[in-house]
Amino acid sequence: TTRVLTGITTTGTPHLGNYAGAIRPAIELSRQSDVDAFFFMADYHALIKCEDPERVARSRLEIAATWIAAGLDPEKVTFYRQSDIPETTELCWMLSCVTPKGLMNRAHAYKASVDQNTEKGEDPDDGVTMGLFSYPVLMAADILIFNANKVPVGRDQIQHLEMARDIAQRFNHLYGKGEAFFVLPEAQVDDEVATLPGLDGRKMSKSYDNTIPLFEGGSKALRDAIMRIVTDSREPGVSKDPDSSHVFALYRAFATPDQASAFRRSLEEGLGWGEAKTQLYELLESIIGPMREKYNQLMADPSSIESILQAGALKARKQSGDLMTRLREAVGLRAPA
Ligand code: TYM
Repeated sequence: TTRVLTGITTTGTPHLGNYAGAIRPAIELSRQSDVDAFFFMADYHALIKCEDPERVARSRLEIAATWIAAGLDPEKVTFYRQSDIPETTELCWMLSCVTPKGLMNRAHAYKASVDQNTEKGEDPDDGVTMGLFSYPVLMAADILIFNANKVPVGRDQIQHLEMARDIAQRFNHLYGKGEAFFVLPEAQVDDEVATLPGLDGRKMSKSYDNTIPLFEGGSKALRDAIMRIVTDSREPGVSKDPDSSHVFALYRAFATPDQASAFRRSLEEGLGWGEAKTQLYELLESIIGPMREKYNQLMADPSSIESILQAGALKARKQSGDLMTRLREAVGLRAPA
């Protein structure tokens, strides 16, 4: 069997990029019979960028409800909250002790902060916490604690997966004595939606404030956001270039191949942007609408989500506990039993 694992940071409202890049492919994988799936809310990671406890709690609830509304079966999938698995932070420390600082210096998120500071003529490490700096080590711990083989993610997470493999390899080499504690995880990226664009054409991201919410705000918020997508100034009747259009990229990420080619043809034949956006809205609403009802029911009953997560934590910790026992012995913290 293949073990599939992925997580979402609990700092914001789930958007179309999270859904198409991670949630949808992950749920599809989880339905295969030879797959053992682990999906979680990355709430330790949330503390890195968010000091608002209410927002972290609210986002965790929204993300959990989103997974279930999108079709996750909690009976089949191990579905949990990262902070319910304290072994993750213990493993994170062990991994930190074998991770070269130089490897972390290359992490995109950290480098972006350093570059920004340098441009402004400030101290390069201004505002950089140890949490941000060692973020990829915590992510490696999430993956390695359950020895996942496949990690469905958007393109922005590929570097983190490479780092997780490096760290796993180093640990195996130092302590394995012929036994590999960790399998080397692989990113699974769906090329069609590897980077879903946001309203302005940049990657759809909470940090760019260009997201289209998946469920929050209902169909009205969905429609309003779609109408704000930036397009070129071609008038109706003038041929459009689908491949440079974010409206088309979004449409294609949700359409069947036949629907996508028909939409491409219409744009080339001069479909107006207003009408194109209406068609995008109708397509999305037909997919999201039914899921939104389930989402709203779940959001109205947080205790049902809480009990699902507690059951998930129980299932997950059976595995993480066994691995940690072996690792404590391997590094010399405990005598072998
Ligand atoms: P996060 O919370 O930023 O994003 C969650 C998932 O959504 C994907 N994604 C996108 N995919 C396509 N197009 C987009 N515009 C887009 N925006 C977001 C991300 O690639 C991601 O798959 N560090 C992770 C959370 C995490 C994790 C893990 C993931 C923590 N531990 C272990 C996998 C395994 C993060 O911040 O993702």
